Parts: sequence; C-alpha cells; structure tokens
Amino acid sequence: MSVRVQIIFYSMYGHVWRLAEAVADGARQVPGAQVEVYQVQELVPDAVLEQAGAKAARAAFGHVPLAAVDHLAEADCLFIGSPTRFGNMAAQMRNFLDQTGGLWSRGALVGKVGSCFTSTASQHGGQETTLTSMHTTLLHHGMVVAGIPYSDARLSSNQAISGGTPYGASTITGSDGRMPSDNELGIASFQGQHVTALAAALVRGRTA
Ligand SMILES: Cc1cc2nc3c(=O)[nH]c(=O)nc-3n(C[C@H](O)[C@H](O)[C@H](O)COP(=O)(O)O)c2cc1C
Repeated sequence: MSVRVQIIFYSMYGHVWRLAEAVADGARQVPGAQVEVYQVQELVPDAVLEQAGAKAARAAFGHVPLAAVDHLAEADCLFIGSPTRFGNMAAQMRNFLDQTGGLWSRGALVGKVGSCFTSTASQHGGQETTLTSMHTTLLHHGMVVAGIPYSDARLSSNQAISGGTPYGASTITGSDGRMPSDNELGIASFQGQHVTALAAALVRGRTA
C-alpha cells in the first residue's frame, strides 16, 4: 500500500525550503510513502529579488521542480509551506492556490489530508495566522486538516527560542541570518511523519 505525498512550498530566503525538506524526511519514514517536493512560481521581478538579497539564497533550491496544479489531485496528502507576509501566506502561494478553482469544482481534493508550515522574521510576527490562513483554503477544498500534537515534546520546549506550533511547523529568521534550529527541524520532521501516517491510515481504510 502506498501513500502519495506532495510537499509544496514558497520560499524567498530558504527557511521554508529547509522546513519542507525536514517535513519530507519525516514523511519518508512512513512505510509506502512516495514523497515529492515542489516549489511554486516566483512572482517577484528579478531586480527586486536582487535588491532584497534573495537571488543567491534562492539558487540553493533552484533545483526543486515547480508544482503543477493538476498534479495535486494525484496526492493523498498535501503539505503547504509559505513564509508570512503581514500575517498571511505569501502572494506566490496564494497565486498557486487560486489556480485550484477547477479542482475545487470537481471536488478533486475532498478527503485528502492537508497540513501547513511557515516562517516569520520575528517571534510574534504572525505564525499562527499565516498557518490558519492556509488551513482556510484547504478546508474549502474539503480536505482533512492536521496539525502537530503536543506528544512531540519539542513543541513545549523553552530551552531556547524556537518556532513550532500545534497548527504546523515554523521557524523564526531573526535579522541575523538565523536558520531553522534542530528543534524546529525536528518538529517539522515529526509533522511530516505524523500527518503522512494519518493519510496512510485513511488510504488503508478506503481500500480495505
Ligand atoms: C512583504 C513582507 C512582509 C513580511 N511580513 C512579515 C510579518 O508580518 N511578520 C514577520 O515576522 N515577518 C514578516 N516578513 C518576513 C518574512 O516572513 C521572512 O523573510 C520569511 O519568513 C523568511 O522565510 P524564507 O526564507 O522561506 O523566505 C515579511 C517579509 C516581507 C518581504
């Protein structure tokens, strides 16, 4: 029995990409998981990316293929990752999701499991609102939204500054080049495994 997983992200500086790879590592631990990682189309002009210092960072994950809207229907489990933009998902992810109207009208994503992850610059910069902004779209598609249970003790750790929420994995970039910590990557990996295992159970139930 296989469970087909697609992890779709937008990232400008690489933080959400790193979380996506950690989610993928966790998902691959589930027997039968077929895991694919995709990024969505950039919308920001090259000159603006250059000025924002993002071009070099983006080169690190330039090899990740672009997500295709029609391909989504083939998944049993979808992970959606986006950095915050003023407490919401980034326009690049909004643009991708806004192309799924045809899938919605066919009910093509109904009953699939969905889960989200994010990144903010500051500790209280809108992680939960960004995650729930993505959940709203998944719920309109009739998807089963899953988060992260507190059985992952890393969610409750106060040993160091850390992202990680019951709504989905997260990281905090700061303004000093901080990259996702081991705690944050561990939570993202846990999310990948936990949510993929839920999707696998649903697939098994439907084929039994
Ligand atoms: C237009 C814009 C709006 C942003 N809004 C917020 C915000 O509301 N809160 C916050 O903490 N960070 C905010 N940020 C910072 C980004 O969320 C941060 O650069 C991102 O999480 C880094 O992830 P990435 O490396 O995957 O691109 C904003 C950045 C931009 C460009």
